Amino acid sequence: MDKRSEFSSKIGFVLAAAGSAVGLGNIWRFPYLAAKYGGGLFLVIYLIFVLTLGFTIMTAELAIGRKAQLSPMGAYRALDKRFSFVGVIASLVAFLILPYYSVIGGWVIKYFLVFVSGGGVATTGADYFSSYIAKPIEPIIWQAIFVLATTFVVIRGVKDGIEKASKILMPILIVLSVFLSIYSIMQPGAMAGVWYFLYPDLANFSFQAVLAAMGQMFYSLSLAMGIMVTYGSYLSKKDDLETSVKQIELFDAGIAILAGFMIIPAVFAFSGGDPTALNKGPGLMFVTLPKVFETMGFGNVMGGVFFLLVLFAALTSSISLMEAVVATVCDQFKWERKKGVLIVTVLAILIGIPSSLGQGVWSEVLIFGFNFLDFFDFITNSVLMPVGAFFTCILVGHVLETKIITDEVKLSSPFKREKLFIIMVKYIAPLCIVAILISSILEAMGVIKY
Ligand code: PHE
Repeated sequence: MDKRSEFSSKIGFVLAAAGSAVGLGNIWRFPYLAAKYGGGLFLVIYLIFVLTLGFTIMTAELAIGRKAQLSPMGAYRALDKRFSFVGVIASLVAFLILPYYSVIGGWVIKYFLVFVSGGGVATTGADYFSSYIAKPIEPIIWQAIFVLATTFVVIRGVKDGIEKASKILMPILIVLSVFLSIYSIMQPGAMAGVWYFLYPDLANFSFQAVLAAMGQMFYSLSLAMGIMVTYGSYLSKKDDLETSVKQIELFDAGIAILAGFMIIPAVFAFSGGDPTALNKGPGLMFVTLPKVFETMGFGNVMGGVFFLLVLFAALTSSISLMEAVVATVCDQFKWERKKGVLIVTVLAILIGIPSSLGQGVWSEVLIFGFNFLDFFDFITNSVLMPVGAFFTCILVGHVLETKIITDEVKLSSPFKREKLFIIMVKYIAPLCIVAILISSILEAMGVIKY
């Protein structure tokens, strides 16, 4: 068999993994949660989770991948046959997310083009967004283009495709984020928003805030999607795994915080300091923010810059998704990379179509009360990911000798936080994950609301 591809440098690997982590979640969910759940206090709790729970699961996944030198299905099987299903779940998660993530990626391309062509004001019309996504054809075309942009990178391979693209896109993403944050803070009336974002407000703090922070951390670090196992399998045995994890986390949290500075002050300035104007998800990104941009000086430019930034964030995430799927099918069926990429591309486009149509012509077609897009989102994020992560902890903490994994980390450097890792992976992480599973199912069922 060919030698397995490898990232050419640690920084290339860190940027690619950070590219996966930094995505829509950082931009359309983190600022909302932070503002809602006690500002600075939420930030502190979030960071504690990143440095403990996030650190543990990410280290475990990267080490599993690097040890086995295989994508998720093969890697879990190689460690323990009975745990093959965890690899199957992880690969399935990536396979199911890629199509609908691309539908949203397509919306981002559309908005970017509308703003750079100077027509941003059109997007502020009352039903612009809902009637756009309900169209039968156009959103599917942009979705396909988004998938093809991902294909363009992934088909070139780990070093010449993913690593190179990450080295270009991620630095630009930082510069754009810093620029927009500064511009947003400088708007008249914005300081109230900065204060709201950072002030640790005990009154808005609750047990739900802790759960929300935990769930957000999980999604934001791209855990339990087979991605870190796959990227770990391309990591050289020489590269320091523990510092890599730290750097990826720093990157992800840094962009989330910058997104807070970018969005909260601007919305506050726009709404005259009304915190309820700040919503999350598509409503924030495609409905509220366009209105905010239009009231700013250089609104079309700022909107264009914003959607470009979001596009880069989404692209580097979808690249990691596609790679996780391609690596799996290529390892599994012994396909060449090209063949794997092309087949996955066609499937991603086709499977994305119902998610797009579900916003309009097929909106009556519901699965357990969800439209297609929300159903795929629910089944992956709220069910499969926590289940996969739970069994990863059981495998590493209780079935295998944990030493097998910690020794893998120590191949490249001393493992400074080894004790923390062992306690977390054996006892605390499984409990936290069960809490995430229960709360995310309750949230999806509408019993609790974040
Ligand atoms: N970590 C990404 C985010 O915060 C989420 C993601 C990554 C989703 C990769 C899918 C695939 O948006």
